[in-house]
Amino acid sequence: MIRKMSQNDLDAVNAIEMQAFQDPWSKQDFINELESNPYSCIYVKEINGEAVAYVDLWIAYENAEIANIAVKKEFLHQGIASELMQFCLQKIQQSKCENFTLEVRVSNTNAIKLYEKFGFQTVSKRKKYYADGEDAYLMVQL
Ligand SMILES: CC(C)(COP(=O)(O)OP(=O)(O)OC[C@H]1O[C@@H](n2cnc3c(N)ncnc32)[C@H](O)[C@@H]1OP(=O)(O)O)[C@@H](O)C(=O)NCCC(=O)NCCS
Repeated sequence: MIRKMSQNDLDAVNAIEMQAFQDPWSKQDFINELESNPYSCIYVKEINGEAVAYVDLWIAYENAEIANIAVKKEFLHQGIASELMQFCLQKIQQSKCENFTLEVRVSNTNAIKLYEKFGFQTVSKRKKYYADGEDAYLMVQL
């Protein structure tokens, strides 16, 4: 089941974030998304009552963006991120967005392959986009 994230999911989502990223968002970042970002909607994939993955989709007028996506280690390579991407695409079609973009570390080949599978292409490089100095690819769904 895919459903909206609530405050009750904070610990589970934060734990996935911590194992998925070298520069993870803090729990407060997720609280800010839930409470203060009107453009954000975080969806979680739940299996047997456990939140095992999430995606943070921003929809602001005609622009949509994947702000964050991660899958719990034990559940990788089972098509869960693909399912979340498909879900986002449906939401975007319903909202009549014109642009769907995201940034990804140039070294994150797994994520780049995931996005390419859904029609995203790299259109430019954002120099030193991340705090550790790594560049990001700007990818756009064409
Ligand atoms: C990127 C990530 C979300 C993919 O999650 P996942 O559930 O394992 O992905 P899926 O099983 O749906 O696989 C989707 C596609 O991604 C690519 N992919 C995923 N893992 C891969 C791997 N280890 N090696 C090569 N390609 C991989 C493949 O193209 C795959 O498509 P296929 O199964 O048709 O070959 C997951 O690796 C993750 O949480 N990474 C850490 C967080 C992160 O980097 N998020 C992205 C930030 S921009």
